[in-house]
Amino acid sequence: MTSKALTRIAVIVTITALAVPSLFAMDKNSGTPESIPLRTVADYVRAVIMAHRHFYTIHIVNRLGKERIVDTSENWQATHSLPLPVQLLQETSEMAELTAPNVRYHLISQWPINKSNAPANEFERMALKEVQIHPNRPYSSTTGGGEKQLFETVYADVAVTTACVECHNSHPNSPKSDFKVGDVMGGLVISFPVSNQ
Ligand code: HEC
Repeated sequence: MTSKALTRIAVIVTITALAVPSLFAMDKNSGTPESIPLRTVADYVRAVIMAHRHFYTIHIVNRLGKERIVDTSENWQATHSLPLPVQLLQETSEMAELTAPNVRYHLISQWPINKSNAPANEFERMALKEVQIHPNRPYSSTTGGGEKQLFETVYADVAVTTACVECHNSHPNSPKSDFKVGDVMGGLVISFPVSNQ
């Protein structure tokens, strides 16, 4: 074997020796998502949704409304007004589904202004009852099987500002007119597939 060939072998062995441990390290790192509990994933998603919703409500809806620049309205597209905070959620959930199919979130309530936001099944009915009693304890379940298995969890949706209660209490379609700040007004439902295939 020539010294050139020996040098070449030495270079290949060195590169392999350096690369293999880093490949293992990469593998180790990329394998961790499977071990994150589903509830923790939902908590992360909720944190981002609520941060955007609160920012939108406080700094955009309230401010533009107070300064009479533009109002919010259910018919925001037709009336050239701003979408309501609840509609921000509906619209962004539809957009999220384009890049992450079956990742969904929406608001529900046992006193809905819009009847299509009433609980849609037994799980949602139970969840609303439970979060009403224990607002700090989300209610979760896993439904379906195989690739269609979905994780669903419902968080209490609390009246964090007077704007929430004033608008709901005075809305003509609201079945409840005595909400107070701090009350659980409904629930935020988050669902996503269990399988990451
Ligand atoms: C300016 C009025 C307004 C404000 C402010 C407002 N909402 Fe609503 N909210 C509505 C309307 C109208 C709907 C129904 C919209 C639809 O789906 O057509 C709704 C829907 C909801 C729903 C779904 C059930 C239902 O009533 O249809 C929940 C839960 C909810 N809002 C909670 C809140 C909370 C909590 C706040 C404060 C952080 C808040 N809302 C602020 C007007 C308002």
